[in-house]
Amino acid sequence: MVDVVSIHSSSQLAGHFKTPGDKSISHRAVLLGALGEGISTITGISGGEDVARTLRIVEQLGASVDRSADQPIRIEGGRHRLSAADEPLDCGNSGTTMRLVMGLVSGLKGTHHLIGDASLSRRPMDRVATPLREMGALVEGRGEQVLPPLTVTGAPLHGLTYDIPVPSAQVKSALLLAGLFADSAVSLREVSPTRPNTEEMLALCGVALERNPSNPLEMTLHPGLVQPHDWSIPGDPSQAAFFLVAALLAESGEVGCTSLYGDVTRIGYLKVLDRMGARLILSTDDNGSLAVTALSSQLRATEIDAREIPSVDEVPILAIAAAAAEGTTRFRDVGELRIKESDRFATSLALVQGLGAQAWGEGDDLVIEGLGSARQFSPLEIDAHGDHRVAMAAAIGGVVGNGADISGFDAVATSYPDFLEQLEGLR
Ligand code: S3P
Repeated sequence: MVDVVSIHSSSQLAGHFKTPGDKSISHRAVLLGALGEGISTITGISGGEDVARTLRIVEQLGASVDRSADQPIRIEGGRHRLSAADEPLDCGNSGTTMRLVMGLVSGLKGTHHLIGDASLSRRPMDRVATPLREMGALVEGRGEQVLPPLTVTGAPLHGLTYDIPVPSAQVKSALLLAGLFADSAVSLREVSPTRPNTEEMLALCGVALERNPSNPLEMTLHPGLVQPHDWSIPGDPSQAAFFLVAALLAESGEVGCTSLYGDVTRIGYLKVLDRMGARLILSTDDNGSLAVTALSSQLRATEIDAREIPSVDEVPILAIAAAAAEGTTRFRDVGELRIKESDRFATSLALVQGLGAQAWGEGDDLVIEGLGSARQFSPLEIDAHGDHRVAMAAAIGGVVGNGADISGFDAVATSYPDFLEQLEGLR
């Protein structure tokens, strides 16, 4: 059965929505819970399938996970409890699960089999495999790109000094997790800042991790045990982007949310939208988290450098904003899009072309000629290619434009299972 979801348009969007718990922090809380020497708890975890995969995997490795309804998740972990699982570790659609678990199991004796769905099986793992091999782990996958399925054989790990060649929080995190098991320090240098969750969370778990005060891109982790922690997960700012952009592009829009994780590496898209003329109100809520309200706005084109939106997760929804803006928007240097859950360079182009905008690639740049208003959007028919962010961006294009028929919409369950429900609440 083909799952086609039809989204009808709405001229008015108003109210509050609630995003799921931040996906990146949720994955890490689970993995650190498994490594933590004792009992950790997690409140507000992402309910998506990706994080459920990570939870299932730490159970397979020997952590005990208690998921009673309406209670914080309780994980009893510790290094001595963890060992190779008999069954393959199924990462589903989740690149973060696979890359971070590669790091963790490199330090666990035995042979670990890591598998994923068709999309994940096309994503290169060499960026993690190469430095892990340097540390002493045995990592095998298909071809030069080390495509899944993978076999990781844990081994005594050595320290590492490594310049990470691509901006990737997943690579950094895999190496930091492996570093916990190493015989000496792991020193890493990033090319540009990426989300800092792993280093911040490891420090909260008592692990010695220093940043070079004269170069924040350099950090050193000293191997050691992880203390348990009680985590409270803030809302996911990348998921909030969908409804905030919807409000901006709607004929009449006023939409807000609170409790968001507000690290600079994650809210670059708000700066971009601000430059495009978006009426956004940012404040701090009662818990000290980020609150954002978006009001309908006439947007104008801009130039966006990939480093402004590290990990480029928000490109599909910013592409919708660009398609509604006046003028030609250029996303510079966004070649990383090609190795996301889909070839997001191609799917983002297909998305805005399907809405009637002229758009093309120039090397690693993505160029979109805006139509001036979302009211000019054509009715959209698109295949999300198993990519949750493409599916959600398409849905927003349909809501603020003239409807959308989206096949492959079920991918949204990987990160935002109640996306449609929240959308209905805003109509
Ligand atoms: C993530 C890192 C990003 C991002 C993904 C989540 C993470 O990938 O695309 O959605 O949690 O570490 P890279 O930073 O590895 O490119």
